[in-house]
Amino acid sequence: MKKRNLIFIAILILATYGFYSCNNETTDNSKSLKEAFSEQFYIGTALNARQIMGHDSATMAVVKKHFNSIVAENCMKSGMIQRSEGEFNFELADQFVKFGEENDMFIIGHTLIWHSQAPRWFFTDEEGNDVSRDVLIERMKNHIHTVVGRYKGRVKGWDVMNEAILDDGSFRKSKYYEIIGEDFIKLAFQFAHEADPEAELYYNDYSMAEPGKRSGVVKMVKNLQEQAIKIDAIGMQGHIGLDNPSIQEFEKSIETYSGLGLKVMVTELELTVLPMPDWSAGAEISTDYEYQKELNPYTEGLPDSVNVAFENRYLDFFKLFLKHQDVISRVTLWGVNDNNSWKNNWPVRGRTDYPLLFDRNNEPKPVVAKIIKEALK
Ligand code: GLA
Repeated sequence: MKKRNLIFIAILILATYGFYSCNNETTDNSKSLKEAFSEQFYIGTALNARQIMGHDSATMAVVKKHFNSIVAENCMKSGMIQRSEGEFNFELADQFVKFGEENDMFIIGHTLIWHSQAPRWFFTDEEGNDVSRDVLIERMKNHIHTVVGRYKGRVKGWDVMNEAILDDGSFRKSKYYEIIGEDFIKLAFQFAHEADPEAELYYNDYSMAEPGKRSGVVKMVKNLQEQAIKIDAIGMQGHIGLDNPSIQEFEKSIETYSGLGLKVMVTELELTVLPMPDWSAGAEISTDYEYQKELNPYTEGLPDSVNVAFENRYLDFFKLFLKHQDVISRVTLWGVNDNNSWKNNWPVRGRTDYPLLFDRNNEPKPVVAKIIKEALK
């Protein structure tokens, strides 16, 4: 009898302990991402036009609760902000910056010089021929001075240069490169620095864990540093998949870039769960119904096995970021919820992807609590 009582009391104690520790966990898990990472790095998100215009209040509530840094997904790109020469449209960008200030966020400007989403007029004259080197430099200068100057002291960091180096480490043969030569990079950083001497200036690119790209970027940065050009951080775009890139190569890049005396930022983070199309199939991709289905396998939700792989992969990356928190100053998700993600339409249109931390109803996925737990360890 006595023994039974003892067992009963032991069970009671264990159950009570379990209840409280569980409850403690809920308390921790109810913390927001930005609270959890407050000691380590900024945790940011990209905002799209609907969100900036205030047409998606449910998502904006998540932004306010969980993130302390923002970047505009599109509205500050040159094709959006200066559609034709000298006609700047700052409407959305102004609202974006205002939202960031009202919510005490670290505001990132994205992006000043990029070969893509740039207006055609930038590189051509009235006849459609390439402009001269001097004209293009003048246009770059005017664009950067006007945009950076407008938000001086308010936008704290700029992606000055986006995607200028190819995966093999050579320069991308963009119009900027063809017309100006490799000095266009140095000039862009110089112009940005002139326009706002206090702003942080970044180089941002994808595939930054590829050895070839890594050495190309290192060479480019050293070149800037030798000429005393201000550059503060490297943005490693985090468009990752379930298998690529390898954590080891990603870590090597964090160490190599920070070894140059720069901060590292993980920008544009999202984790696609969808298969990459086989481009050699050519036109088949758009016409072959069976293949379309194969490329878009999770329209009704993710199977458990994929969910597990998704969580583990996100956690592995966040553990890596935490390990290198001394050199990582920001981690930015490329969107808030799965519905917003460009990955639903790239590289194949109209798929259902699940790459972000919040689901289509703006609910945090289970991985969010696990990430928060890692941050609070
Ligand atoms: C690149 C750019 C981003 C965005 C993505 C696709 O990574 O830096 O601004 O356009 O492509 O959404």
